[in-house]
Amino acid sequence: MTEKLATLIKQRGPIQTIGVFGMGYVGIPAALLFADVPGIEHVYGFQRASRTSGYKIEMLNQGESPLKGEEPGLEDLLRKVVSAGKFSCTPDFAKVAECDAVTLAIQTPFKDKKDLLPDFTPLIEGIRNVGRHLTPGTLVVLESTITPGTTTGMARQLLEEESGLVAGEDFALAHAPERVMVGRLLKNIREHDRIVGGIDDISTKRAVELYSPVLTAGRVIPMTATAAEVTKTAENTFRDLQIAAANQLALYCEAMGINFYDVRAGIDSLKGEGITRAILWPGAGVGGHCLTKDTYHLERGVQQLGPDALDWPGDIASLYITSRQINDFMPAHMLRLTKSALAQAGKTLAGSKIALLGWAFINDSDDARNTPAEPFYEMARAAGADVAVHDPWVDPATAPDVPAGLSRDLEGVLSGADAVVVFAGHREYRGLVPIEVQRLCGSARPVIVDGRNVVEPDGWIEVGFAYRGIGRGDKNGHSIQEIA
Ligand SMILES: NC(=O)c1ccc[n+]([C@@H]2O[C@H](COP(=O)([O-])OP(=O)(O)OC[C@H]3O[C@@H](n4cnc5c(N)ncnc54)[C@H](O)[C@@H]3O)[C@@H](O)[C@H]2O)c1
Repeated sequence: MTEKLATLIKQRGPIQTIGVFGMGYVGIPAALLFADVPGIEHVYGFQRASRTSGYKIEMLNQGESPLKGEEPGLEDLLRKVVSAGKFSCTPDFAKVAECDAVTLAIQTPFKDKKDLLPDFTPLIEGIRNVGRHLTPGTLVVLESTITPGTTTGMARQLLEEESGLVAGEDFALAHAPERVMVGRLLKNIREHDRIVGGIDDISTKRAVELYSPVLTAGRVIPMTATAAEVTKTAENTFRDLQIAAANQLALYCEAMGINFYDVRAGIDSLKGEGITRAILWPGAGVGGHCLTKDTYHLERGVQQLGPDALDWPGDIASLYITSRQINDFMPAHMLRLTKSALAQAGKTLAGSKIALLGWAFINDSDDARNTPAEPFYEMARAAGADVAVHDPWVDPATAPDVPAGLSRDLEGVLSGADAVVVFAGHREYRGLVPIEVQRLCGSARPVIVDGRNVVEPDGWIEVGFAYRGIGRGDKNGHSIQEIA
């Protein structure tokens, strides 16, 4: 069976033309790096001409990146491969027929997290479009993060249905999950090890051939398609769990009146043979496209195997789901800190003006998907506060679900604020000077709530601010400074 595929691939020769479906945070850097490999003739960035993302096609073809956060090297590489004629973006999926390999980097969100229902509509549409134009001997790779079982299940079935070809016989099929973080997309793809899992050995081998030339420091780790799916979803689940552990401990430290960061330094100091106490940082909540959903992909993967597959007491939520719930609680905790600081300043949430700093979910990025700032914004407004939002990176014209009036004018947003609430650790907020912020707020006793540990509490408390910070039990109970 695989002999036929091996012959087809041999007849095709080395991979020269590549298609990448989905021009987003993952697809764009991946496509550009493929295009920069010597011997690659052309890379097509396949982007559907949708209402929200269609604008990217023209931008990319003009050498301008639609990703507006700090992405070292990305814009330069884009201009290089566009002007060399090695990369172009198109909504014409028929060009799949020209490709030796096609990868899919399409978003995979959840419709209903509680009932573990993913929204695979965009991914299914993409897979079907690949299938419709698939030719014998092509390699298809899913790079999107997917529920374990999807490559050998849904993807294989849709591709076979649309193409009339057979996976493992007429075309190769693999999962090679992307492991990048925004802010270091190119570096991560080049330097992280690459997990590659084919549905059979020939598929894995062809996928290794696709990714090897892009890696500078990373190595390829081959495994099965399902093992690759579990690896990806579990690595994000573990990160979410480790953040939840830090958040839970931060809440304990606040309750006990101690500084989380002292405790963290203490725990982290225990090193030695076989000892590891990796401890992350607490914060105002977890956002982004990936960490907010990948736990549910993993859960769904095991639940789809049926009630008898997993030995687990039915009345206890998994450790992973509990971690998600802890992280989802943090914006509500931020509101509680804001309320308590306002009370110390003699004010209430109702009628107060809040300056919310940082709409992106991560520092120095424009990525605002599932930002924890949003539930805070909604809850604060429901409590009667007037919330003005500042972000130096997020573009109100292209970011989804941006609050009305989101501004890049920091002074304007701080003007007249009763409370300054930091949600993202953008570099612009690290240099905030208490006395200047106080002048802009226009009151002697404003409030500062630090959700990312970016300000030094004493400097703010000294000039009269009511301060609250995640994990800062040592300072949250401070007495208010007498105003001269
Ligand atoms: N963002 C990250 O840092 C990151 C990291 C690792 C893995 N991932 C995974 O990679 C996948 C993609 O994530 P992303 O952040 O790049 O998403 P994204 O939303 O930034 O990009 C997806 C792109 O695909 C396009 N698209 C959707 N359906 C399409 C279709 N049928 N045909 C052509 N184009 C289509 C969208 O319009 C969009 O431009 C997800 O599964 C995600 O979980 C993301």
